[in-house]
Amino acid sequence: MTAVVEIRGVGKRFGAVKALDDVSFSVAKGELHAVMGENGAGKSTLMKILSGVITDYEGELRIEGQVQKFLSTRQAERIGVSIIHQELNLVEQLSVAANIFLGREETYGWGILDQATMERTAGELLAQLDSNVSPKSLAGSLRVGDQQLIEIAKALSLDTSILIMDEPTSALTEAEVQRLYRVIDALRERGVTILYISHKMDEVFRLADRITVLRDGKFVQTLDRADTNPQQIAHLMVGREFETAVTRPQTTLGEEVLRVEKLSQPWPGHSKQWRLKDVSLELRRGEVLGIAGLMGAGRTELLECLFGASAVRPQGSIKLDGKDCDFRHPADAMRAGIAMVTEDRKRLGLFGHLSTGGNITMCRLSELSALGVLSRCAEANAANEQVELMGIKTDGIEASINSLSGGNQQKCIIARCMLTQPKVLLLDDPTRGVDVGAKTELYRLMHRLADQGMAIIVTSSELPELLTVSDRILVLCEGELTGEFTRAEATEQKIMEAATAVSV
Ligand SMILES: Nc1ncnc2c1ncn2[C@@H]1O[C@H](COP(=O)(O)OP(=O)(O)OP(=O)(O)O)[C@@H](O)[C@H]1O
Ligand SMILES: [Mg+2]
Repeated sequence: MTAVVEIRGVGKRFGAVKALDDVSFSVAKGELHAVMGENGAGKSTLMKILSGVITDYEGELRIEGQVQKFLSTRQAERIGVSIIHQELNLVEQLSVAANIFLGREETYGWGILDQATMERTAGELLAQLDSNVSPKSLAGSLRVGDQQLIEIAKALSLDTSILIMDEPTSALTEAEVQRLYRVIDALRERGVTILYISHKMDEVFRLADRITVLRDGKFVQTLDRADTNPQQIAHLMVGREFETAVTRPQTTLGEEVLRVEKLSQPWPGHSKQWRLKDVSLELRRGEVLGIAGLMGAGRTELLECLFGASAVRPQGSIKLDGKDCDFRHPADAMRAGIAMVTEDRKRLGLFGHLSTGGNITMCRLSELSALGVLSRCAEANAANEQVELMGIKTDGIEASINSLSGGNQQKCIIARCMLTQPKVLLLDDPTRGVDVGAKTELYRLMHRLADQGMAIIVTSSELPELLTVSDRILVLCEGELTGEFTRAEATEQKIMEAATAVSV
């Protein structure tokens, strides 16, 4: 086995936090090597070191036997190492093509950008990824899944021999994931070595040749996939036995809190005409309602309409506690008692200039103030309580939100929503990028909140998750409701059938 990447005694500190501590392992040529670990275990930090993003660290890296000390991502790319980041890194105001060629634009020789060539090449790369996104569209106008494909196209264009993917599927829908798997197969046929970070056990067990586990910044073990199983990996990740089974006993539901009738959202200029069509549902206090559906089925659109966050105003009626709602803006919805955790935390959720505590408490500032003066102490208490409750790994509530690992940032957003104590909580794929232990915690938390009378609507790209948390599941297909199942009735099979039902 030839090692193409050797990591030797790598360590990295951020202030008091030891993100990596004497990590050593090797990656063989042509393998898909998964790296797993809890939120904050140091996975992204290690990958940033490998790809020249972080240049100041202890220890040594060897690529193809040569010691390398990258001073920039550009240098790493020249040696053939590229990274697709966990948090997307696109310039939203630029076109897709411009993003792919950012920093190495094709020119005619006098510094004049060759737009046409860039767009053509970008189009070809995207076609390889089965994507029909136009190279001319603005990156910021695309949904997360498409944005992620642009990052992959960028890596492809660099003729990469070692590709690092930091949770590449966490933002993708089922169909896009299948497409990515095909791309990965093709890359492997070309001999590309892949370092792959994921919290999804089934995915890792499907793709990986070997799995390395990190815990608290330390190397734990590298295992052949064939010699291990998900339970063992989960155990190595958390370092203790833990109960993954979550069940909610039969609950008695409260009165109706939300009623949606014939909600439709037009889709101007699109051949399908409707993003959502005649969606009716009711939700009761204490209920956890799951929304299933494939890519483009309208899950996110539905939640955005309920939250007053849709670009095009929906038709139909939404009643909260019997009162008609016409939310023009999320602020209206929040005042009325609806909170939402969005699927795209970077764009809609996090405030990079604020601290961890500030991000958690920002929606409750008025309540934490007395006579208009914000009580720092009350704010800190509230934030600390959430950090404790959600198990958020941070240097303290004063730490910059950007210093938290991806999964821990997600927990902060959920904590913020919890603090507003909404009547209705909308969760759009909330466990994206959250580790196994924390996922289980989150399921329990949802049940606890529901037991206290909160009504919850949750979507997920993982069906088993919906089956675990929901009291009832609605299925969307191309914007229409095509199925409804109680917890007792629901199976993956039935939901998939409804999700792929061709609407008439
Ligand atoms: N720029 C930074 N400043 C301060 N601390 C940081 C910074 N980047 C990472 N850390 C800390 O280093 C530790 C490891 O973070 P890292 O992002 O590598 O975790 P991860 O394994 O990728 O987690 P996740 O699964 O949540 O993405 C965390 O405690 C994190 O808070
Ligand atoms: Mg990470």
